Amino acid sequence: MIKDLQQQILNLKSEKDICILAHSYMSEEICEIADFVGDSYALSVKTKTAPQGTVIMCGVRFMAETVKMLSPQKKVILANPDAGCPMAEQFDKEIIAQVKKTYPDYAVVAYVNTTAELKTVADVCVTSSSAVKICRALPSENILFIPDINLGTYVKAQVPEKNFKLLSGGCPTHAKIEKEEVLAAKKAHPDALFLVHPECRPEVVELADYVGSTSGIMEFAEISGGKEFIIGTENSIVQHLQFKCPGKSFYPLSKDLVCHNMKITTLPDVLSCVLGKGGEEIVMDEKLRMQAVKCIEKMIELGG
Ligand code: 13P
Ligand code: SF4
Repeated sequence: MIKDLQQQILNLKSEKDICILAHSYMSEEICEIADFVGDSYALSVKTKTAPQGTVIMCGVRFMAETVKMLSPQKKVILANPDAGCPMAEQFDKEIIAQVKKTYPDYAVVAYVNTTAELKTVADVCVTSSSAVKICRALPSENILFIPDINLGTYVKAQVPEKNFKLLSGGCPTHAKIEKEEVLAAKKAHPDALFLVHPECRPEVVELADYVGSTSGIMEFAEISGGKEFIIGTENSIVQHLQFKCPGKSFYPLSKDLVCHNMKITTLPDVLSCVLGKGGEEIVMDEKLRMQAVKCIEKMIELGG
């Protein structure tokens, strides 16, 4: 059944010149039919070179918007219109404009998990894999980091030469993990290395053997000499790693590390999109796009 659906999708996508992008939090069966699977930075960069005229994004809304901003000539479809990232909606443009008035000499660094509207008031965008590098490379000594306080705290510790102001946003999935859960997982698996996403709280990140983006965590686990790993990010990564590295063991840090916003996209959703019956085409006002894309282009320039 799954194989039949996948084959139908593969046939239609090559017939219709469609590129399928999947964030690594997607299920195994979606990743298997995607042209490219990666973290949010890799997906942004990939977009620019994909030759197809239509892109289906299996991920959340801000990711589809990023694709549209970088490739306005392409038809960009969000595979499930209800897939949003709650963090991206936590602050609106007006609040940030107010904060900027208080800190006029601070460069606004926006996590890519933000709306197109919010990106219009940012000087540069970052992803979890590029944030440290970009904050170091920015000419400004002063950084207003929005919206994730946990990622901001991590970056601030890595870039002590700069002044940071942080806002109190964050990812509801990663931020709910507590230090006690890490201690319990380490007790249950004393030989395992602990790999974590920087969207987790500082007291959780402090206990990690490796901190990085979803792709960073996967690469680390694949090349590491270690045999056991506790995975401190969305639980699909545990599944993907177990498929990729059958000789190693991967343990979820918590059974609650599930992003329901990402998980809402299914293989039948992707089939509806390639059939031309489902998903949502991203339509963006050209003035908004031109303003918002500047900070993404700056991210690619500084993060490449
Ligand atoms: P990555 O940048 O690691 O892909 O993370 C995106 C995200 O939404 C993590 O919660
Ligand atoms: Fe947003 Fe968190 Fe889900 Fe990532 S894991 S998409 S930050 S809610």
